[in-house]
Amino acid sequence: MRKRHAAGIGIGLALMFGTGPVEARALLTVCIDRASPLAAMDARIAQAAAVSQGYGLGIEYFDGQGLGDGAFASDSFRKLAGGLCQLVLGFPVDADAPLLPDGVEATRPYAQTGFVLATRKPQAAGALAGVPVGSTIGVIFETAPNLYFHDHPGLQPRVYRSSAAMIDAVANGTLAAAMVWQPSLALHGEAHPGLRTLAFQPLDGAHARWNLVALHGAESSAAAAVFEHGIAALHGTGQLAQLLAPYAVDQAADQAAAKPLPAIRPASGKAAVGQAGPGHLLAVAAVTAPRTAGKRPAIYTLEQARSGLMSYAMNCAFCHGAGLEGRTGPALKGEKFASAAANFLVGDIFFVLAMQMPAGKPGSLPKDEYAAVMAYLLQQNGYPAGKTLLDYEQALVSEVPLIYSGP
Ligand code: HEC
Repeated sequence: MRKRHAAGIGIGLALMFGTGPVEARALLTVCIDRASPLAAMDARIAQAAAVSQGYGLGIEYFDGQGLGDGAFASDSFRKLAGGLCQLVLGFPVDADAPLLPDGVEATRPYAQTGFVLATRKPQAAGALAGVPVGSTIGVIFETAPNLYFHDHPGLQPRVYRSSAAMIDAVANGTLAAAMVWQPSLALHGEAHPGLRTLAFQPLDGAHARWNLVALHGAESSAAAAVFEHGIAALHGTGQLAQLLAPYAVDQAADQAAAKPLPAIRPASGKAAVGQAGPGHLLAVAAVTAPRTAGKRPAIYTLEQARSGLMSYAMNCAFCHGAGLEGRTGPALKGEKFASAAANFLVGDIFFVLAMQMPAGKPGSLPKDEYAAVMAYLLQQNGYPAGKTLLDYEQALVSEVPLIYSGP
């Protein structure tokens, strides 16, 4: 029996743009997470960027988890970026705590989005400060709600599983407001045109702002440069702003466009990340710095650092600061915390962390969660992620020196 030339689930070139035989022109191939509320926007941006550079475009759709972050750590990313496409579009990188899968590079951000406070009517005062005391606010886990409600004790969070249910609850008046992923709000409005349009304003706390980047492996840095040049061109003509506008997503290309892009060289090994400018662009650059730091051993995995970030946000941040900069508790990152002179070992710090923290509720977290928080501290102090899990018992006696290496 002859095998059908069938497209697998989510595999196969979904779209081809441009005229003439495809073989005749260079092709930019991108993977797009069909579960992302930004999928349609990303497809249009990729098309316009490719066309502006004289390229054709191939799109592979795949099913991630919508929010991107964590959806394609390491292995699954390799499958996508190794074989199916050159660039994985629409990956959100936390502007406060950037984490990228190991061995993965990112383009300059092409847009910025984040979590917003959605309400039925526009508010006079800023975000949560404008909501009447005693109100219930819808949240999802990703918004790190504890960070906000610590500062607004008069408001009551209610956790929702899905953004859609939460948005409906605001629309019908069940909730005063909801902390929601901005693109989800835009998509919801698009999908339900009859529904009341909600007002929204950006949340200003930690983990609220995200940069959208395209991810790639080192072998696709030429494709990444083509994409970046395309974005800069779209920015120049005002087309980028038009493409982003329906999603109320901000342009992140302002800074990028102001900087000259390197000429496209087929074998340019270095991605543009390293040359990023100020602000959130620098935040992305910081991700790659620790990995090149050299001698520091890799004693935790990226997945651990990721879950450690969530646990840190829930259990530690309101004393130690969302960026580990210190608040009522001391800083847990930087020269003041782990200088060479302080002579800390990982075991010393882990002992304090596991036996005495969170202050007031020592020992209250599961062992693997303590190990994950330690992984996050290591990541933030310049230690690379690797294949070895940081184990609770081993961390207690670890003699690895803990010395901050800044980006
Ligand atoms: C209620 C506030 C509070 C919370 C919550 C809290 N800490 Fe602390 N933490 C402190 C204070 C205060 C100190 C300083 C204690 C001391 O020096 O005796 C401290 C000290 C530390 C130290 C030692 C720092 C050093 O330089 O010696 C580490 C590590 C630490 N905390 C980690 C954590 C982690 C991780 C969490 C979350 C699991 C956490 N803390 C939660 C208040 C807090």
